[in-house]
Amino acid sequence: MLKPSLIFFILPIFGCCQTIPKVLVMAFDGMRWDYITPEMTPFIWSIAQKGVFAVQGITNQMFTVTAPNFYSISTGLHEENHGIVGNTFYDPHFNDYFDYWNFSGNSTLARGSRDGRWYSGEPIWQTNENAGGGRRSGAMRWPACDASINNISMTNCMPFDGYLPFVEWQLEIDQLVTWFTQPNNPINLGLYYNPQPDHMEHGGDIYRTDVTDTIRDLDLLTSYMFDQLKAKNLSDSINIILTADHGHANVNRAYNMLTIDDIFGNIDDVIVSQLSFFPRTDRNVTTDMIYQRALSYRDKNPKFDVYLKSEIPDDWHYRDNDRIGDVVLIEKLGYKITTNASLHSYTHAVFGQHGYSKFYPEMRPFFVATGPAFKSNFTVATPDLIDSVDLYPLMAHLLNISAPKVDGQLCRIDFILRQSACAEPTKTPDPTGPTGSPSPTGSPSPTNSPGSSALHLSNVVVAVSLLLVHFILQ
Ligand SMILES: *[C@@H]1O[C@H](CO)[C@@H](O)[C@H](O)[C@H]1NC(C)=O
Ligand SMILES: *[C@@H]1O[C@H](CO)[C@@H](O)[C@H](O)[C@H]1NC(C)=O
Ligand SMILES: *[C@@H]1O[C@H](CO)[C@@H](O)[C@H](O)[C@H]1NC(C)=O
Ligand SMILES: *[C@@H]1O[C@H](CO)[C@@H](O)[C@H](O)[C@H]1NC(C)=O
Ligand SMILES: *[C@@H]1O[C@H](CO)[C@@H](O)[C@H](O)[C@H]1NC(C)=O
Ligand SMILES: *[C@@H]1O[C@H](CO)[C@@H](O)[C@H](O)[C@H]1NC(C)=O
Ligand SMILES: *[C@@H]1O[C@H](CO)[C@@H](O)[C@H](O)[C@H]1NC(C)=O
Ligand SMILES: *[C@@H]1O[C@H](CO)[C@@H](O)[C@H](O)[C@H]1NC(C)=O
Ligand SMILES: [Zn+2]
Repeated sequence: MLKPSLIFFILPIFGCCQTIPKVLVMAFDGMRWDYITPEMTPFIWSIAQKGVFAVQGITNQMFTVTAPNFYSISTGLHEENHGIVGNTFYDPHFNDYFDYWNFSGNSTLARGSRDGRWYSGEPIWQTNENAGGGRRSGAMRWPACDASINNISMTNCMPFDGYLPFVEWQLEIDQLVTWFTQPNNPINLGLYYNPQPDHMEHGGDIYRTDVTDTIRDLDLLTSYMFDQLKAKNLSDSINIILTADHGHANVNRAYNMLTIDDIFGNIDDVIVSQLSFFPRTDRNVTTDMIYQRALSYRDKNPKFDVYLKSEIPDDWHYRDNDRIGDVVLIEKLGYKITTNASLHSYTHAVFGQHGYSKFYPEMRPFFVATGPAFKSNFTVATPDLIDSVDLYPLMAHLLNISAPKVDGQLCRIDFILRQSACAEPTKTPDPTGPTGSPSPTGSPSPTNSPGSSALHLSNVVVAVSLLLVHFILQ
């Protein structure tokens, strides 16, 4: 029998938490929109038919690699505004490299990439917890959940831990469901990340059976997640988004590889910041010199495009950030720029790649949503209707919390909801993008502003640079 005092204690807690809306996002790295088929993903297909289904995928961020795209989903900001401009990149003010996945094998860099100084904006897991009222977030392998962004470390974060087998994936799902249902401090926002099928796609032809088998496993896993939620009576109350960061396309190694060494004549003349380049001013190299070299190489090998940073079109939202180098290269679909030193590591005759322009259909991620807030049996006909930055204001709306103004727009995506979320239905997307460029926290703070554009380079960073360029564009 409960003591009266205990009842008083328990009741308000139940009263409070029953009303907190629940949201689950499951994201599969490299899951292209057209992988959702009745044959390959029968379960996700069935969910797609019942809920909201972007039949041609959605628009992602210009530079279609993992870290920038996940951080755009997490913050609602375009790449130039949230500052994660690549999987690995260089910051001229820090005079240091970002390398979240430890591609360089340098633990100092990998650990340093968890430092909040790299990250602008407010990720949704913080927005949710900051709203209070018992709201808590849980992130399973979700990129950057282990970074101390805005000086806050996430409580329920299990960081990336490599490429695990199916049984381990099930345990991850069990843990996530436990976070939702545990009596003490249950979460109301769950973020699940799986590094497949991307890893399998990089390892050979993206149309081989190893890849389709992996996609089938992810479909089974999704079905497993839905079964667990049903067993806990959460199916009717939780809103679920299934999506990805980017697609994939095949590269033919024998004909379609290019190297930075050849494009610039000498790799030592540039600082590599993913596929953008700073001139090595300490070697008397100028922006114009590297631009002219890239142009003349391109004219003979029209397999990529060359831009001066200042010429980059607005709709890339990939320009106004000091971490983007003065000269930007972007491969045409099916080509791959690497370095001479790492050419040997490409062992497959045909293999999957991404990082191409978001305007190629092959680079688009899938998108499916279901739950009480979403329309049923509703298709999003064209990919331009939803931008992945819109997911942040959508999640905030589903969570019934206020959020900072970001690049994403709730009023652009609210047509997938049963009940309109916008007082004034202003459906016309603003062609110039969100007013000016402001991110809530501004662009990455130039804490050690050098005062001139000349780069100060220590020998250490040059050494790290050589290491890192071998790992660009994973
Ligand atoms: C980074 O990779 C190196 C080489 O594989 C490894 O020894 C090191 O433990 C890794 N560091 C971190 C922080 O993951
Ligand atoms: C690893 O990165 C740190 C930080 O930039 C640097 O000081 C160090 O020299 C690097 N280690 C190696 C082996 O390159
Ligand atoms: C982050 O928190 C630590 C310890 O709480 C504090 O010393 C530091 O000044 C904070 N940094 C920022 C940028 O707020
Ligand atoms: C299941 O959840 C619904 C709310 O979504 C609630 O009305 C119902 O009572 C719950 N059933 C059980 C058996 O807990
Ligand atoms: C890069 O490698 C290719 C093929 O091995 C070679 O022809 C070329 O000279 C190298 N480029 C540089 C700048 O070393
Ligand atoms: C760069 O140019 C200056 C002035 O012409 C010269 O003194 C210096 O040696 C040059 N540095 C290199 C690395 O060529
Ligand atoms: C879904 O909608 C289509 C047309 O919009 C209709 O033909 C179909 O019967 C609907 N399916 C279900 C299960 O309601
Ligand atoms: C949303 O939150 C407000 C308080 O901020 C509350 O009054 C309202 O009932 C909530 N709506 C839902 C659907 O939970
Ligand atoms: Zn990815």
